[in-house]
Amino acid sequence: MTGEIETDWSTDAIVERRKKFYAASQRAFVPYKEPMIFQKGKGQYLWDEKGKEYLDLLGMNLCISVGHAHPEVNRAIREQTEDMLHCTTMFYHPVPAHFAEELVATMPEGDDWVVHFTSSGAEAADLALLMARSYTGNVDFLALQNGYHGATFGAQSMTGIAGFRHNVPLLGGIHHVSNPDAYRGIHRDNVDLYLDEIDRTIKTSTSGALAGMIIEPVQGYGGIVPMLDGYIEGAFERVRAAGGVCVIDEVQSGFGRTGANFWGFEASDAVPDIVIMAKGIGNGIPLGAVVAKRGIAEALADKFYFNTYGANPVACAAGRAVLRVIAAEGLQQNAARVGAELLSVAQDVQQRYDAIGDVRGRGLMVAMELVKDRKTREPATDVTAEIFEASRENGLIMSKSGAYKNVLRIVPPLCINHDDVGRFADAIDRSFQSVLDS
Ligand SMILES: Cc1ncc(COP(=O)(O)O)c(C=O)c1O
Repeated sequence: MTGEIETDWSTDAIVERRKKFYAASQRAFVPYKEPMIFQKGKGQYLWDEKGKEYLDLLGMNLCISVGHAHPEVNRAIREQTEDMLHCTTMFYHPVPAHFAEELVATMPEGDDWVVHFTSSGAEAADLALLMARSYTGNVDFLALQNGYHGATFGAQSMTGIAGFRHNVPLLGGIHHVSNPDAYRGIHRDNVDLYLDEIDRTIKTSTSGALAGMIIEPVQGYGGIVPMLDGYIEGAFERVRAAGGVCVIDEVQSGFGRTGANFWGFEASDAVPDIVIMAKGIGNGIPLGAVVAKRGIAEALADKFYFNTYGANPVACAAGRAVLRVIAAEGLQQNAARVGAELLSVAQDVQQRYDAIGDVRGRGLMVAMELVKDRKTREPATDVTAEIFEASRENGLIMSKSGAYKNVLRIVPPLCINHDDVGRFADAIDRSFQSVLDS
């Protein structure tokens, strides 16, 4: 056994220790050529181990919703840790129950919603699939190509991006249909053709009876792909006609991020049967939830289903504080306002660089998709990587997303402000210039 050692913040030691002690499965997912080490975060800013400041346009993959080290969230966490770190769901505790009530209040009226807390989005995705299959008694389930739902077997089986699907037998009965992507999708923006594909898939690839379908209102890791108008409504109609339940994945698009609405699905007229959420729900604390119509959730009443840390009071105290902060600071409205400004800067840069084939977004989910040729839309993966590296030098943290890693994904903490947009405009311009004008 090693004794207690002081944390070593020297760059080489951090890199070496991770290389030596992390499993490949935890080591492999790195964005930059050179290791990126972070020591501190505050609001929408980050500092590396050498003290260099960055504008955070990624929020640790959208986990940081209301800002790094938010004082109100941290206070709620601190206070709960003083009383009790964990209370198993076998026993009663008011904090998670209050939080469940508050989450239910964000759901569409007219339905009786209940909550199951998990520790992650993938656990929530797995449970949603289990609920759908248990409730309907059916197995076949639809998911979208280019969708991401997590790394566990169930969630991975619903994921439609090869880079995240491992070469092992995943769950059977899950069928992927084309995602309605106006820019790169097989039917471009023709929503009827995508919906026809659902009909065809149900008729040809399934038993005809569905357990359900899962949809991200705006695909996240897939490269910020908002569902076409009418798609969610049409898909839900077809899924319900085949006996299935409709699952919405709000892990990235929820909690006011899309600006116009609190939940991404509210941009449509469709009401889901099950909603899964995680990431920004806890502002960095591991937490997820399945919110389901009571009748569907009741399908699991006769068997135990237990996420050890589900409904952890510290995590739920953080979650309650996140909801309070979003409301008190008007962060959904901020997402709409600042998101529109970011989009307009991205469109402006697009005017100057042919390499940007498409700019799109909803609220604080913004994407710039890079292509070799605007006509053929061939993905410009290498150039995207170069601009991405340059953006780091220029003090921006973003992500490279999409099946071809040719999308710059901009999903900052919801507290980003007007001045930050100016900083982004300057830094992104310099990043494109240094790669494409040199
Ligand atoms: C849309 C979506 N769903 C589900 C998940 C899985 O969440 P977790 O990584 O917490 O398991 C993710 C994670 O990135 C996600 O983006």
